[in-house]
Amino acid sequence: MIAGLGHMAIIIRKAGKGDAKGVARLWDDGFERGYFGYTGTNRRRTVKDIRRFEEVYAKNKRNEFVFIAIDSVNGKVVGSCTFFAKKEGRTRHRGEMGWAIHLDYSRQGIATRLVKRTLEEAKRRGFKKAEAEAAVKNIGSVRLAKKCGFKIEGRKKRGLLLDSGRYADTYVFGKVL
Ligand SMILES: CC(C)(COP(=O)(O)OP(=O)(O)OC[C@H]1O[C@@H](n2cnc3c(N)ncnc32)[C@H](O)[C@@H]1OP(=O)(O)O)[C@@H](O)C(=O)NCCC(=O)NCCS
Repeated sequence: MIAGLGHMAIIIRKAGKGDAKGVARLWDDGFERGYFGYTGTNRRRTVKDIRRFEEVYAKNKRNEFVFIAIDSVNGKVVGSCTFFAKKEGRTRHRGEMGWAIHLDYSRQGIATRLVKRTLEEAKRRGFKKAEAEAAVKNIGSVRLAKKCGFKIEGRKKRGLLLDSGRYADTYVFGKVL
């Protein structure tokens, strides 16, 4: 938490090649602190993951991009929002989004800024729809999606397998761009 500086200290920008390690650190910290229990992945980032991130950030493909939030005071990556769409086929107009914020920076409106910026970019690139999936119990994520204009399009039974071995239902969100 960066008291007193608020939003001004947080920069939102597209991820570039040098950001992969920072994003991996964000993920690892979230897992260590038990904060990312409703994300689609449940393991620490590996060297291979970092290489994959680097490749995505460097290639700058139209259909796959990532926006990140940076604390300008210490240079830390404190949030990430991904967009991925198929390159061809009948679903090429829509992309799937995923988001995460560092626990120390949560509830400050950073995800809202990050998701809105990513949605703008998807629209600018010609995509017609954004989609996301979140556990029904992931209150923060559900609120965030609604706040950013996503609508619930359905509910999946057992959409997520939790670390406890239990299943959680998920909402499927959609937003027409
Ligand atoms: C979900 C997440 C990205 C929200 O990030 P954030 O920066 O805290 O979100 P914001 O501050 O922009 O808040 C967005 C809205 O959600 C609400 N919110 C956020 N976290 C909340 C929580 N834990 N409980 C209740 N409401 C919450 C905020 O109050 C705000 O709504 P409001 O403006 O109506 O009050 C963040 O909590 C996170 O990274 N969680 C762990 C990873 C995860 O679950 N990712 C998503 C997988 S689908």
